Amino acid sequence: EKDGHDWFMRKEIFEQPRAVADSLIGRRGAGGLLQLDEMRLADEEIRDLDKIIVIACGTSFYAGMVAKYAIEHWTRTPVEVELASEFRYRDPIVDNTTLVVAISQSGETADTLQAIRHAKSQGARVLAICNTNGSSIPRESDAVIYTHAGPEIGVASTKGFLTQLVACYLLALYVAQVKGTRYGDEIDEIMQQLEAMPDHIETVLESADAIYELARAHVGARSVLFLGRHAGYPVALEGALKLKELAYLHAEGFAAGELKHGPIALIEEGLPVLCVVPPRGRDQLHAKMLSGIQEVRARGARTICLAEEGDQAITPYADDLIRLPQVPVLLQPLVAIIPLQLFACELATALGHDVDQPRNLAKSVTVE
Ligand code: M6R
Repeated sequence: EKDGHDWFMRKEIFEQPRAVADSLIGRRGAGGLLQLDEMRLADEEIRDLDKIIVIACGTSFYAGMVAKYAIEHWTRTPVEVELASEFRYRDPIVDNTTLVVAISQSGETADTLQAIRHAKSQGARVLAICNTNGSSIPRESDAVIYTHAGPEIGVASTKGFLTQLVACYLLALYVAQVKGTRYGDEIDEIMQQLEAMPDHIETVLESADAIYELARAHVGARSVLFLGRHAGYPVALEGALKLKELAYLHAEGFAAGELKHGPIALIEEGLPVLCVVPPRGRDQLHAKMLSGIQEVRARGARTICLAEEGDQAITPYADDLIRLPQVPVLLQPLVAIIPLQLFACELATALGHDVDQPRNLAKSVTVE
């Protein structure tokens, strides 16, 4: 049942190319137009949207952070992302021009369910991004985009996360199509880039052995930091969460630009810092990330850099280098998270932990 893998999690990591491909199937209808058929929201309702609020917990929340970058860039609609457990207790400003997007792999997370109930009571329209057919969250929502990850057994979400990212990109493109903020051929081009992602993910998975070796070399680490910028920032947070959950290690993700505002004080000799380097296309972003990496390295950090193929500028600053395929910055989370999942899985295995059933955690959190 684990297909020869030691853990469900590892099996699920390797299922990601398929899960992403499955989540893209059947999304284009006549004339190549995007169609989300579980989307029971009228075009006028989408055109009239003033604001989108994404609510979720844990890994799903990090998918929501990526969604903000994509939705705002492609649709010019303001997006807020909020932890479901915080949302309803702060008297949020929500009405019938607000679309609340609830992201939940299980569809049963109590914090998220309570948050959508509150949003609905305030008149908001609710769209669920969910992996579980007929679960409570999609049942109580006005519209649903189902992800097609298949059952996720490992408590740590992996393929659930990737398929949530795909659904968020699809939603963003769909809103762009309806609002007319992107032309058909632009949407087409991004869809083609998305359709190429399963092969890119496969390429990253081919470097699993090198990543495992790297992970085993860090068995003695007491703390690990993760740095990212732009869409790489939620990847850093998700990488840190994986390590907390599985290896019970202190791990923290930071926006690289925040380093100098405090976190750089944490850097000490030998501290492993995993850096998600943005693609070179966005020069500013890449150059700024590089200087952040230089700064932590100058203070003794051991840098493990995830950077795209052909990025030579990073080489002098990387103690270890993991190559990623060349993809646009907004889609980079789909490939950049893979090494971090593999790293956490292997490090936890080397520490002798139960990767599928980490201590103190449950697969669905059905209490607030
Ligand atoms: O089922 P959900 O997506 O609503 O779950 C949300 C979180 O509980 C979940 O992502 C949790 O953080 C995972 N254990 C992360 O690996």
